[in-house]
Amino acid sequence: DATKRGYDHFMLKEIHEQPHAVRQSIQGRIPDSREYVALDEFEPGEFDDVRDVQFVACGTSYHAALYARQFLLDRGIPSNVHSAGEYATNPPPLEEDTLVIGVTQSGETADTLASLRYAQAAGARTLAVTNVVGSTAAREFDDALFIRAGPEIGVAATKTFSSQVVTLALLSEVLTRDRTGSYSDQLDTLLAGLQALPDQFESLLGTNEVSHLLESYRGQDAYFFIGRAEGYPVALEGALKFKEITYEHAEGFAAGELKHGPLALVGPKTPVFAVFTGRNVEKTLGNVQEVKARGAPVIGITHQDHDKVTAVVDDVLPIPAAAPCLRGLLANVQLQLVSYHVADALGRDIDKPRNLAKSVTVE
Ligand code: G6P
Repeated sequence: DATKRGYDHFMLKEIHEQPHAVRQSIQGRIPDSREYVALDEFEPGEFDDVRDVQFVACGTSYHAALYARQFLLDRGIPSNVHSAGEYATNPPPLEEDTLVIGVTQSGETADTLASLRYAQAAGARTLAVTNVVGSTAAREFDDALFIRAGPEIGVAATKTFSSQVVTLALLSEVLTRDRTGSYSDQLDTLLAGLQALPDQFESLLGTNEVSHLLESYRGQDAYFFIGRAEGYPVALEGALKFKEITYEHAEGFAAGELKHGPLALVGPKTPVFAVFTGRNVEKTLGNVQEVKARGAPVIGITHQDHDKVTAVVDDVLPIPAAAPCLRGLLANVQLQLVSYHVADALGRDIDKPRNLAKSVTVE
């Protein structure tokens, strides 16, 4: 199977393509000076009347939108993220100064298209953020922004998540500029962080840190994933990937929600993956102590030499010390590898998991 280029599965190939995918996503969009963002799709001031942003998306794209909301939140831009299946049937109020952003890798997901069509008919501004240039989403709405990840074959989305988040990070600065008249004071940190990201992906992918975990955590009752801020969508995405391709029970939670229900399920046979991005570390460590007290083994995903975390957790999946707002992307790669290797050990049909489709074109 020549197109897998020596990898056993498209998913593994696409995980390893992430450095390239992100390079493509930022190509020509970050000037050497790092003083502005060059998203040539948009005229300066084009979004100056946008007061409110609503994201609509499904699956992994929904998690990318949740991650993107953190960029807007950090820049003081009000936004909400909606599951497109809900939005299409139960839409919130929206005005002409609402920007509705449909995040869809394929550009063909029926629920996302229906949501964007609703928003367009209601007079809102619509923007499709997609990977496929000729897709319905790219053609039908006010604007299209391409994530340039390259074709993704594996049903479980991997590299497109990274490219979506990176592209939406750039968009968050464009929205800030149009809204306030200048880029945010985080511009240089963000752009430098994005420029460094492909090499950090490469160094992470060059070490195979997950394989030693497989034996220890085989045959458990369930697998839980927790995180805060940008670590929260990564926890959701980690759990989604895990259940999609391993068929094991996995759930992701906002770390603070654990004590409002999920804790009742926690015990020695429910490993917990805790995502640390550098934000709210003490709070998440508090949640880790809660699950440890009930006997659950904890795997911390954290930047290297983060002694506070490594002292408490049972195992560590290390990530490079990237810009804190981008560490979630590196943590996500570690979790992609965990899912992949567990599914592979279980002999699952990784590229075509049962009951799932790459693109869901029915509502
Ligand atoms: C399907 C795929 C997922 C994907 C979701 C949204 O469920 O299996 O991997 O995240 O659709 O797809 P989209 O093309 O809209 O990003």
